[in-house]
Amino acid sequence: MAPELLIATAETIARAADLIRNGKLVAFPTETVYGLGADATNDRAVASIFEAKGRPTFNPLIVHVSGHEEAARHARFTPQADALARAFWPGGITLVLPRRETTPISLLVSAGLDTVALRVPAHPIAQKLIHAAGRPIAAPSANASGEVSPTRAEHVAASLGHSALLAMILDGGACPLGLESTVIGFPENGTPTLLRPGAVPREDIERVLGSPLAAADVASGETGRSSPGQLASHYAPHAPLRLDADDVRDGELLLGFGSSGAAALNLSPSGDLGEAAANLFAMLRALDARADGSTIAVARIPERGLGEAINDRLRRAAAPRS
Ligand code: TXA
Ligand code: MG
Repeated sequence: MAPELLIATAETIARAADLIRNGKLVAFPTETVYGLGADATNDRAVASIFEAKGRPTFNPLIVHVSGHEEAARHARFTPQADALARAFWPGGITLVLPRRETTPISLLVSAGLDTVALRVPAHPIAQKLIHAAGRPIAAPSANASGEVSPTRAEHVAASLGHSALLAMILDGGACPLGLESTVIGFPENGTPTLLRPGAVPREDIERVLGSPLAAADVASGETGRSSPGQLASHYAPHAPLRLDADDVRDGELLLGFGSSGAAALNLSPSGDLGEAAANLFAMLRALDARADGSTIAVARIPERGLGEAINDRLRRAAAPRS
């Protein structure tokens, strides 16, 4: 079933908000580009974002919130982050900050990292949708993986219009900025870092900070290509991992999939890859906390659909660390 493409009105925004609260995906305009939105606190809904985009890996997503105050409930701001929020929000800048323990935002949104990317969009339709949904909204650009970001509702329809996962496209015309947000990271005791150039120029940000931004270490990026924002750091448990486990050995905890017998936890007893993606990071963390010297054995995950992204993350988590 194709998504409905509807002109954004008070009524269609209210319907879109209901869809979000019910775990569905809605594409909506922001001042930068169109976003593919889901309830950021719903693991299963967040997993369906990756499914719809066909991403072969779980990149962390930007969470759209109503304001600086709400953002501060989800993440710990530094004085410099506060200064940028005051200067540029609402607007085209995204701040990557340490997650608070208490945030209900899905770990899948953060791709298992201890940080979360937050943005307060300025577009009135985006603001109304966030308020009506009453939830933080996770949204990457609303294009299939590998395509350019959409700046009109028709672009979204062309890229994702065949997806049964996308419930609605809210048409708000052309995005005024047409360029993704600038992403700034705040490493602990470090210099704020330009993770991705975007709608807000570096010079404007440096003027507010009163000092230069550090450059993202692109060379150590995950892909080795120039892909700012995809940092080398990714979630890795302390316990060793053994992948593609067909059995459980002494002293191992099994993270099962499908009909795994002796599983300590099971990513999806029914073998549903979307459910497995939704559970992946939370279950790895839970087993890591229990491991106490044991190895986490992970059942074989089929390399299709979301399985490709799940296996990509598992291989990274299992890789030897420096
Ligand atoms: O303008 C925009 O930013 C649009 C609209 C919809 O808000 N969104 C967007 O999202 O471009 P996406 O998923 O296409 O790009 C998000 C960027 C990626 O470069 C990602 O790696 C980075 O933000 N990012 C998100 N969370 C991060 C985190 N915890 N650590 C480092 N980088 C992060
Ligand atoms: Mg994108």
